Amino acid sequence: MKYRKLGQTGIEVSEIGFGAWGIGGHLWQDSKDDESLQALNRAIDLGVNFIDTAVAYGEGHSERLIARVLKAHRDKRIYVSTKVNPKNYEWPARKGVDIREVFPTSYIVERTEQSLKNLGVERLDLEQLHVWNDEWVNTDEWRAAFEKLRREGKVWHFGISINDHQPENGMQMIDTGEIATVQVIYNIFDQSPETKLLPACEQKSIGVIVRVPFDEGSLTGSITEQTVFSEGDFRANYFRGDRKKQVVERVAKLRRLLNGEAGTLPELALRFVLNPPAVATVIPGMRKAKNVEANVAVSDGRCLSEDLLAELRNHSWIRNFYE
Ligand SMILES: NC(=O)c1ccc[n+]([C@@H]2O[C@H](COP(=O)([O-])OP(=O)(O)OC[C@H]3O[C@@H](n4cnc5c(N)ncnc54)[C@H](OP(=O)(O)O)[C@@H]3O)[C@@H](O)[C@H]2O)c1
Repeated sequence: MKYRKLGQTGIEVSEIGFGAWGIGGHLWQDSKDDESLQALNRAIDLGVNFIDTAVAYGEGHSERLIARVLKAHRDKRIYVSTKVNPKNYEWPARKGVDIREVFPTSYIVERTEQSLKNLGVERLDLEQLHVWNDEWVNTDEWRAAFEKLRREGKVWHFGISINDHQPENGMQMIDTGEIATVQVIYNIFDQSPETKLLPACEQKSIGVIVRVPFDEGSLTGSITEQTVFSEGDFRANYFRGDRKKQVVERVAKLRRLLNGEAGTLPELALRFVLNPPAVATVIPGMRKAKNVEANVAVSDGRCLSEDLLAELRNHSWIRNFYE
């Protein structure tokens, strides 16, 4: 496993982190705790030292599973990032909504304290706001909460999780100097962070956490026209209608690029996002030990060639399946 600097935090994070949304169950209906725990343990054994979760993932379930694993690996320093959900439970943050409906100071504090309890730790390594809107940058709500939580020693670093497919809606927050990290969707289909966000983060030493590297499964090649997700699983909506067909057609074109540089689609997808130096870590969602093993193996220091990267530029696909 290779490690990279997480911005200016002084933390060295594994290039492959652990995305822990799926293990929370709820919107990922086919999760099984025993498999999830195996996946987490395997990841740590293989050198993963960064886990991304949120208090909203299964209303604390993801955090509580992580707490069990942290206890079992007390001898290792594992960094956990979590998130405060929007009080109005609306993803993404809409324009024009008052921050007091989404992140009142007292709510940020209360949800942080819940995360501390769920994770069984005294201090969070990284607390992120689970949605963000740059319209809020000059408000006191988040500043007062950050200040209080830092003063009380409950949070070490803060960050934002940028709204889906809006990589530039966070550029003003970066300029405040109050956040250490941003979390953003970046993958072969959505390459938009490369335009402004990644260069700005590199210049200002903001740690970039890449989420959804597989476009919720498309880029693993596992989605077929016959794939069915149970009702209540968010992917039933994400891949609704003729979207699976669209995905299959796009992915077929990508398969033709598999060669000695990347032998599988997940490998290609991970190598692509690890290419920019601005990226600190990528957090694929993983609930199975075999997926952990395959993903961790990608962190071997090898880079994709300029020719392949240039070819991958042609595969960007602008759309928003979360809507
Ligand atoms: N708004 C936000 O802040 C936000 C939103 C979304 C995600 N996130 C964070 O980002 C993380 C990653 O996103 P995600 O989990 O939604 O999507 P993702 O990483 O794009 O895709 C996860 C899917 O890929 C599968 N997978 C992983 N490795 C694989 C491999 N080697 N071969 C085949 N399939 C593989 C997983 O299967 P299994 O699960 O069965 O192993 C899962 O179905 C989340 O867990 C969460 O921490 C944050």
